[in-house]
Amino acid sequence: MKVAVFSTKPYDRKFLEQANESLEPKSRHSLTFLECQLDGKTIALAHDHDAVCAFVNDQLDGEMITRFSKLGGRAIAMRCAGYNNVDLAAAAENNISVVRVPAYSPYAVAEHTLGMILALNRQIHRAYNRVREGNFALDGLLGFDLHGKTVAVIGTGKIGVLVAERLLAFGCHVVAYDPFPNDHVRELGIEYEPLDQAIAEADIVTLHCPLTADNFHLIDAEHIARMKWGVMIINTSRGGLIDTQAAIQALKIHHIGSLALDVYEQESALFFENMSEEGIEDDIFARLLTFPNVLITGHQAFFTQEALTNIAETTIANLTELERNGTCNNEILPLSL
Ligand code: NAI
Repeated sequence: MKVAVFSTKPYDRKFLEQANESLEPKSRHSLTFLECQLDGKTIALAHDHDAVCAFVNDQLDGEMITRFSKLGGRAIAMRCAGYNNVDLAAAAENNISVVRVPAYSPYAVAEHTLGMILALNRQIHRAYNRVREGNFALDGLLGFDLHGKTVAVIGTGKIGVLVAERLLAFGCHVVAYDPFPNDHVRELGIEYEPLDQAIAEADIVTLHCPLTADNFHLIDAEHIARMKWGVMIINTSRGGLIDTQAAIQALKIHHIGSLALDVYEQESALFFENMSEEGIEDDIFARLLTFPNVLITGHQAFFTQEALTNIAETTIANLTELERNGTCNNEILPLSL
């Protein structure tokens, strides 16, 4: 297939080329690497291509998809698990298949989540700066033992389960919320509770569910009001799960004790780019950066060697399967909407 790969970084290119070159020469795809994000305008660059390959912050809305269809496009290959940025109904209407990489390294995201909890609790990000400046004072760095604390894991799929297992190893009391509970979690001795109950009991709330039309701003002012005073909130899932303005209000009055974000609802204008010369125009994000008890990473939880290898290999395999069979195991069907 001729594939236009959008939002390409040097690391995407390296891993995708390696995966493509591992195929027999006659089975290889023709990959055009483009640095720009995919949207209703940049789709013009994909004329003469069968497929586009996109990532988490590309905008695959109705406009983009209709234009792609008019250009003769027939497939969208997401090189990620989430597809909240794809208008699946528009893709179905235009006969465009959408495939994704359902799992590439749940370990990567789970380990980053634990890293954020530990760093935020023990203020490692602040300690690093202090020590480099010769400041060895401990004021403001006081943490708490994770042992014995209650953690609410929201979403117990591939990543949530791994996070829960790791928290149990720290001696935490883990409770869970998921509209589709799974037996493995119960076998670990973890109880499922209604969302309101789980977040009200928790010292730490960690989000591991997809962003859907139903759970936009799942953590809003009302839900934050139900949480314990001083709660730690971790989001490595999707930015839209948290109402950032409500979080800021709660941080100002110390209701939220600390917040770690690997994702942010307006991240597409910021993340994966070097903005250090331009400054940050997003005042809400800039306000978040003023809190010493907020730790932000730029959507890097997935970013391990293993994950990039799996993403590239599965993406190339998805394209091959679509080309050969017209369908693919990793296809997202409109029924799953
Ligand atoms: P998964 O599909 O294995 O599990 C998701 C779980 O969430 C399922 O058990 C599902 O029943 C549950 N769920 C659905 N709606 C829910 C709701 N409203 N409340 C609570 N639970 C709900 O997905 P996986 O692989 O565990 O990934 C979870 C999320 O992590 C992804 O949707 C994605 O948004 C995010 N992610 C973030 C990455 C990063 O680099 N920061 C990388 C990969 C995934």
